[in-house]
Amino acid sequence: MVKEARYIYFIDCFSVYMRKYRGEGLMQIAIDGPAGAGKSSVAREVARRLGLICLDTGAMYRALTLKALGEGTDFNNGKLLGELVHRCDLKTDYDDIKGTLIYLDGENVTDKIRSPQVNKKVSLVAKSPEVRKELVFLQRALAGNSDGIVMEGRDIGTNVLVNADYKFFLTASLEERAKRRWLEMKEKGLDIDFEDILEEIASRDRIDQERAEAPLKIAPEALIIDTTAYTLEESIKKVLEAIGSEGS
Ligand code: CDP
Repeated sequence: MVKEARYIYFIDCFSVYMRKYRGEGLMQIAIDGPAGAGKSSVAREVARRLGLICLDTGAMYRALTLKALGEGTDFNNGKLLGELVHRCDLKTDYDDIKGTLIYLDGENVTDKIRSPQVNKKVSLVAKSPEVRKELVFLQRALAGNSDGIVMEGRDIGTNVLVNADYKFFLTASLEERAKRRWLEMKEKGLDIDFEDILEEIASRDRIDQERAEAPLKIAPEALIIDTTAYTLEESIKKVLEAIGSEGS
C-alpha cells in the first residue's frame, strides 16, 4: 500500500506543480484542535459547502489502533506499530454526508474505530514516529491527488500541509468537549460515565501535546476559534467567513 502511495505521490507532486503553474487553484484548508472541539463536523460541512473533499486524519490513526488491538501488538513498541502500516491495507474514501470512510483490510471500519477501546489506545499509536512518517506520507499523497481538500487532525497546519491556504485551530473547554462526546456516545446507545470520558479526553490531550513528533500545537498563522459557546452552524460560519465564502 505504501509503495503504491509513494508512486501516486510523485505523480501528484508533478500534477500539483502543473496546476499551480497554470494558475489553477487547489484550495487546502487545515483544521487542527483537541478531541471534541468540533473539527470533524465543521470540516465535513465546510468541505461540502465549498465542493472540496475532506479527510479526517484521526480515522487513519484509529484504524491502525484497531489493527494493533486485533493483533495484540505492544502499544509501547513504536517500531512494531510502524511495521503494522505495511502489513495492513488502509484505504480512505469520502462521502459528502458521512465524511471520511475508512477501510481496513477490505472492511469498512468507520464505526468500529470509535470504540472506547480505540479511544484509550489511539494516542499511544499516534506517538510513534514510524507510524506518523507513513501516515503523513499517505495524507500528503491524498491531498496532492485531490482538487482541493479540508484536512483535519492535530498536526495538519504545523506539519502535514504547512503551505495550506487557510489554517484553523478549533478548541473548546474540556468540560464542553467531554459533554459533546458523552452525548454522541449516548446517541449511539453507549452508556459511558461522563467522568470517564472527561478523563480519557484529558489524557489524550496530554499525550498529543507532549509527544516529541508533531505534537498538537497552534500553527502561528492559524485562526483560533473557541467553539465552547457556539452551535455547529456558528462554528462553520466562522470558518467560512475567514475564507471569505458563504458556501452553497
Ligand atoms: O475525534 P477525536 O477528536 O476524538 O480524535 P481523532 O481526530 O479521531 O484523533 C484520534 C487521535 O489520533 C488523537 O487523539 C491523536 O492522538 C491522533 N491524531 C494525531 O496524532 N494526528 C492527527 N493528525 C490526527 C489524529
